Amino acid sequence: GLFPVVLSGGSGSRLWPLSRQAYPKHLLSLFGEGSLLQAAAERVGDRTLFEPLTIVTSDEHRFVIAEQLRAIGCNDAHIISEPVGRNTAAAVAVAALHLACRDPEAVLLLMPADHLIKDTAAFHDCVERGVEGAKAGRIVLFGVPATEPVEGYGYIGCTDAPTADGCLPITCFVEKPDAATARGYVEQGTYYWNCGIVIATAATLLKELERLAPDVLAACLAALDGSSDGSGFSRLALAAFAACPSVAFDVAVIEKTDLAALVPARFDWADLGSWSAIWGAAGKDDRGTVLHGDVLAQDTSGCYVRSDGPLVSVVGVENLIVVATPDAVLVMPKHRDQEVKALVTALSARG
Ligand code: GDD
Ligand code: MG
Repeated sequence: GLFPVVLSGGSGSRLWPLSRQAYPKHLLSLFGEGSLLQAAAERVGDRTLFEPLTIVTSDEHRFVIAEQLRAIGCNDAHIISEPVGRNTAAAVAVAALHLACRDPEAVLLLMPADHLIKDTAAFHDCVERGVEGAKAGRIVLFGVPATEPVEGYGYIGCTDAPTADGCLPITCFVEKPDAATARGYVEQGTYYWNCGIVIATAATLLKELERLAPDVLAACLAALDGSSDGSGFSRLALAAFAACPSVAFDVAVIEKTDLAALVPARFDWADLGSWSAIWGAAGKDDRGTVLHGDVLAQDTSGCYVRSDGPLVSVVGVENLIVVATPDAVLVMPKHRDQEVKALVTALSARG
């Protein structure tokens, strides 16, 4: 069977003040519809194609997530929760160990919780190709052409001669290169951005984790022991899991493995990691302004103006982000939205 897994442990600090520790971005309604997590669950909700969903999240968020899944009629998901965050290598290891117990031949479809993919049919087509590669023992990634030197992504170089199972063998994978390196990749014009979606069998993932990150695997195995309460939840044991090294799956495994292969993504893909990305994905007025909530804008262009609290009005401004909540307001030029992360760090230092 094909087992979808959503990794849902991040907080999305670049979307402050809307996203907070207690309410990370993938649990918010960003466009006035459901949350990104609900959209991810619905994308893999077709029981003729997918087995029930597994979600790896934090102890803190497991009930909100269970509630959001119930609200969309998803009643058979299994939620594994972490007492502390130990990054994605651990989250992948936990999912692979859990599902290998259920089905040794399990093929896992690992997905982030915070992406926007609208074309579900195209997504399912690409997944089908990825499953072929996974069954042939590969760790299949999805990529979109790298068009700008964005620093926060993984970059994939690959050959253009597909293997028998239709994937492109990967020659180089670099997670979050510095700006100069990223610029070099973009200038070459042959690199892809890693979408963050992985398809591989549980057996392949466990084999590579054992080889490349044995400490992670051992800690996760110990933390899973006796964690299931038989009611759709597993809570990892604190002492064992806290001892797990904190490392991204991309760094621990994908950068080092020889088994990675690429399926070019034929679906629309957006990582909604910043306010300008949300602006880009949202419906705009004829001057490129997005209005959300109780807001009034006069003579503005290229702005994102949102209020989840008081009435907000703006006059005669361009390319601004304005986000208001009941207890915090953010105003900044749209092109400086990466600086919100540092702002949040400064805020938490202030206490
Ligand atoms: N359960 C759990 N526990 N999930 C986690 C944890 C954790 O400790 N840390 C992160 N996640 C989840 C996030 O919520 C997100 O859904 C997913 O794992 C990816 O983590 P990010 O922290 O968002 O990774 P990234 O954006 O820096 O980089 C990844 O995604 C890029 C594309 O958006 C990498 O895969 C890059 O190579 C890729 O380009
Ligand atoms: Mg991300």
